[in-house]
Amino acid sequence: MKWTTARIRNAKGKQKLACLTAYDYATACLLDGADVPLVLVGDSLGMTMLGYESTLPVTMEEMLHHTAAVVRGTKNALVIGDMPFLSYQVSIEQGVANAGRFLKEAGADVVKVEGGAFRAPLVEALKQNGIPVMGHIGLTPQSVKEFGGYKVQGREQDREAELLADAAALEAAGCFAIVLECIPEALGKQITQSIGIPTIGIGAGRYCDGQVLVTHDMLGLHSNVTPRFAKRYAELGETMKEAFAAYKQDVESGTFPGEDHTY
Ligand code: KIV
Repeated sequence: MKWTTARIRNAKGKQKLACLTAYDYATACLLDGADVPLVLVGDSLGMTMLGYESTLPVTMEEMLHHTAAVVRGTKNALVIGDMPFLSYQVSIEQGVANAGRFLKEAGADVVKVEGGAFRAPLVEALKQNGIPVMGHIGLTPQSVKEFGGYKVQGREQDREAELLADAAALEAAGCFAIVLECIPEALGKQITQSIGIPTIGIGAGRYCDGQVLVTHDMLGLHSNVTPRFAKRYAELGETMKEAFAAYKQDVESGTFPGEDHTY
């Protein structure tokens, strides 16, 4: 059965929600086959797929290209298109137009935007125009320059209060769920208990309504340092390297192709 925003909202308190990123058709097919309810086409693709140092250079065209591929690979998962830096910050009109492209051109189910209470007017405008929105607060990577690095957010009392108010404002504006990134576990719990929509945590502790990981991190595909919150479920990077080396060896020694691989 297809995951809808209503089904996601309804899961709060009843079923924990798993979310993983996908940027291509093959991974999307596998995630959908594993019945993962939420598939995020994150702007993390800037680093995982395109080799940028941050998410800041990612463009609308890159996001739409990858989102369309993921949509083609999913039947039941709710596909979330992540709005890239400067596609929604300049004006509400531009934000609505770009969010609409995720649904109209790429076939995404919903979009995700970063930012707290100040983002509520955009969330309202998107909702009024039939575009469901997921919020994202805490360590919002598009603000990495403002934060001065990828630092845990909400350790100080005033920032903690700000994040609680942000979550309430985004719920009131119409978000169907909110990503909480890199905040203390106690704050993740407090926010989760204070709002009626699901929280999806990444480095936000055990009490969120769901969890999201970057698939490249959990599969060990990324050679960069894995963040503390990212549990590794496989070492596919090593497995792939071994397979590539074995293939090279077979080609060089003339063992591939063998008789079985010829016509
Ligand atoms: O871009 C992304 O993958 C994300 C997750 C880290 C939540 O926004």
